[in-house]
Amino acid sequence: MKKILPIAHGVRGELEIPGDKSISHRSIILSSLGTTTVEVSNFLAGADCLSTVNCMKSLGVKIERFGEKILVTGNGLRGLREPENILDAGNSGTTLRLLMGLLAPQKFLTTFTGDDSLRSRPMARVIRPLTEAGASIVGRNSNKNLPITILPAEKIFRGITYKMPVASAQVKSALLLAGLYAEDATTVIEPAPSRNHTEKMLAAFGARLERTGNAIKIFPAEKLTAPEKISVPGDISSAAYWIVLATILDGSDVTIKNVGVNETRTGLLDVLRKMGATIELRNERTSGGERAADLRVVSSKLRGVEFGGEIIPRLIDEIPALSVAAAFAEGTTIIRDVAELRVKESDRLAAIVEEFNKISPETFSATDDCLTIRGGRKKFFAECATRGDHRMAMSAAIFGAAAEGVTLDDDDCVKISYPNFFDVLKV
Ligand code: S3P
Repeated sequence: MKKILPIAHGVRGELEIPGDKSISHRSIILSSLGTTTVEVSNFLAGADCLSTVNCMKSLGVKIERFGEKILVTGNGLRGLREPENILDAGNSGTTLRLLMGLLAPQKFLTTFTGDDSLRSRPMARVIRPLTEAGASIVGRNSNKNLPITILPAEKIFRGITYKMPVASAQVKSALLLAGLYAEDATTVIEPAPSRNHTEKMLAAFGARLERTGNAIKIFPAEKLTAPEKISVPGDISSAAYWIVLATILDGSDVTIKNVGVNETRTGLLDVLRKMGATIELRNERTSGGERAADLRVVSSKLRGVEFGGEIIPRLIDEIPALSVAAAFAEGTTIIRDVAELRVKESDRLAAIVEEFNKISPETFSATDDCLTIRGGRKKFFAECATRGDHRMAMSAAIFGAAAEGVTLDDDDCVKISYPNFFDVLKV
């Protein structure tokens, strides 16, 4: 249990945030496919990325960890070996879905499991196209839930053209990784652009890719050439809590250092600015093919906005934090096309409505795919359940800190993406 007290003053000074979760996963997976040692710095040593590390080790990759520095030495694109035991992806959808794509074309058998949350999340969305390409994958029940077994690939892997029904970087990435082993090119068409870290990093490893509008095509590869170093930028999804908190607390003026600002991830900044927030990008630079900047955020009065459609994949993980901002705005915020929130680490639409209304009653309501937040209502001290979901825990924590305080039933889940979150919140 964790008790968060109201913060009487604004957020001031400078903040460092942990490395980007999505890029940390990919840096381990792709480095595992090269033949030379890669030094990954500012790696997010959160539980999700450590699940990826452990899975890759079980597949025969040499990985050494020195705090936030990781050394990865792969055995080449065709050098993975059959794991001796079941692979555990823990809470991590990214570990599981990306590795399913990587392992589907291999000539050995792999079985995956995960925690209670991951075992209930839908995997048919990745199994279906991989099966079309030639994979044999069996999962539990019609949703193809974990445990899942990937049988040794017997057929030649085909290059497919797959039009994704929902925007998902995890599904896209799985198909691109499988595409490295296909007999001809694989094309993935997204309904709206999702985070593009996999394609950027694959290109940096020498894979051939072509983008046309929302279609991304990858050609089969003989080998990947790893860079010597990968420097992971800070995670904008972790910065989101401080961006929102600084915006809604009077007297704030904070600079968040080294935040990844890849354009497929910055929807939160666009929406908050539309609501009236003051967010300045300073010292913009490119590091390892990814944009990064220091973000200066000053307290601002917010107004409600309406949005949905193409922007949603660019801020999907930030909606719990954004809902907190909307509760402090004047007027109503309507967020459309968010059905995907129902299949995240928890059903986040239900969690936002049920848990956040405990802090600000009659503020949050949802339909199947739309979230409405009536801003400016009274806030109370409350006891919120995190539902084991790291982003719900951190969003509830900043909500309580900006309101009348909150207790959380579990604070351990933040270790998934932000192990020292509560130490920073104390400051
Ligand atoms: C991620 C993709 C997104 C996101 C998740 C991380 C990734 O999931 O919500 O936290 O690293 O590829 P979907 O692919 O399910 O949209």
